[in-house]
Amino acid sequence: MIKKPIVAANWKMYKTPQEGVSFVSEICNLLLDKEKPTIIFCPSFTSLFYMNENLSDSGIELGSQNVYFEPEGAFTGETSVGMLKACGVRYVIIGHSERRHIFNENNTSLNKKLHVVLDNGLVPIFCIGETFDDRNARYTKMVLKEQLTKGLDGVKGQLIDRMVIAYEPVWAIGTGVNAEPKQVEDTHLQINGLLAELYATELVKQIPILYGGSVKPENAKELIEVEGVDGFLIGGASLKLELFSKIIEIVKNNYKG
Ligand code: PGA
Repeated sequence: MIKKPIVAANWKMYKTPQEGVSFVSEICNLLLDKEKPTIIFCPSFTSLFYMNENLSDSGIELGSQNVYFEPEGAFTGETSVGMLKACGVRYVIIGHSERRHIFNENNTSLNKKLHVVLDNGLVPIFCIGETFDDRNARYTKMVLKEQLTKGLDGVKGQLIDRMVIAYEPVWAIGTGVNAEPKQVEDTHLQINGLLAELYATELVKQIPILYGGSVKPENAKELIEVEGVDGFLIGGASLKLELFSKIIEIVKNNYKG
């Protein structure tokens, strides 16, 4: 089965609700072709409701950058999965390196988040990736294995094709330096192998694996042509209409499935 490629925008702490809505309406004007990749916008919490109201039948999906694993309660500053669903969210980024490194999220809490997202019928975009030091010390596979094994702990095989993995080497995020196509190919292969070790099911082949880390129009073609890359999770270049729409076109025209 040919997978549909995914282009996901991680807007981090940028753009007001109004800016988000006008960005999406301009993207829709630029991309009239129905045969486009799955496009997901992940704005900040404050924009979700308003953007959902304005997406109408654009076919564009809404994602959240985070979630809390409890259904409700005295958890000041947190947002539940039910609240996200009420805003039309379908995808939830879990374990982005900024959450892991700046906000000290660990594999145990990320695993709880993954479960709550899957249990509620939403699609996690589970981020994994090694630091520069890990790669230099040849620890990449070990780090990814730990992130996958602990992150996916208890996730049943029959749910596994309901998730998306994003491989984002920490050293490539926001640095302007992307991983080389060969590094991406090797690492995606390793991730496939690790998933196959964890889940003895054909469904593993259906899991889209995205690449993230300094994706831009200049490198999007060589990266989407890499075997095992099913799309991108994009930070900086997703904030600029021209760059983001170019990347979508490149993915549409060059993804082999
Ligand atoms: P970047 O960010 O595209 O700016 O490197 C990617 C990400 O943080 O997901």
